[in-house]
Amino acid sequence: MKVVSTRAELAEARSVLTGRVAVVMTMGALHDGHVELIRRARAEADSVVVTVFLNPLQFAAGEDLARYPRRLEADAALSERAGADLLFAPLPAEVYREEPLVRVSAGPLGDVLEGASRPGHFDGVLTVVLKLMHLVRPDVAYFGQKDAQQLASIRRMVFDLDVPVEVVAVPTVREPEGLALSSRNGYLTPEQRASALVLSRALATGDVAAGRKLIDTEPDVELDYLERVDSTTFELRPDGDLLVVAARVGTTRLIDNALLEDA
Ligand code: PAF
Repeated sequence: MKVVSTRAELAEARSVLTGRVAVVMTMGALHDGHVELIRRARAEADSVVVTVFLNPLQFAAGEDLARYPRRLEADAALSERAGADLLFAPLPAEVYREEPLVRVSAGPLGDVLEGASRPGHFDGVLTVVLKLMHLVRPDVAYFGQKDAQQLASIRRMVFDLDVPVEVVAVPTVREPEGLALSSRNGYLTPEQRASALVLSRALATGDVAAGRKLIDTEPDVELDYLERVDSTTFELRPDGDLLVVAARVGTTRLIDNALLEDA
């Protein structure tokens, strides 16, 4: 696996990749959820590019950009083992040569739920995803179902802006007890990790009221939202096909979701 960090090196390494090219975009601190994305890409495409870029544009002041785990060497080893051909790990100044004056707007999808709690977050995500799509020029991009609102926003951007990239969603990878894998799980103490299990249990009830009631029983978990939504628009709907949850456990914000079979 080749590791590059500049646009010029990426362009050169990309030019020799053959066949259908897949990209897996990450912010680093790779875990088994990312490994699953890379493996799926490896199985379904001819060449696999992984990007590791901690995107400052999607973090608001006071969020965890400064403490977000950085471990490029381990990320490179995991990517290579999972089957990546090329790793692009640029610094912010390589991606944002100047402060971007023009950004992608997530529209209404960026204003609700995760977007309401993190204003501007999805604009920052879409801006970097589009830039990385232009730089990597993939045929297909793999994203985790765990970040369901991000996935819906990316799908909508690709549709609205005619981006010639197929978007594939990969099911959430969970710990045996149900906690969805996330790079932020590393912030949790063992006690908080145990408390956080209530989130997947709440989703498993398949019901907003029952799920909220269950989360209320866990004093260390502060619920932000648990709602039933349409998985493409993120509008709240009693007949929506997706249950989404966000909560704070200590200082760590966790999100999770479950597709509903009765929808
Ligand atoms: O899901 C993530 O890790 C990030 O939001 C992404 C898609 C890599 C954009 O920075």
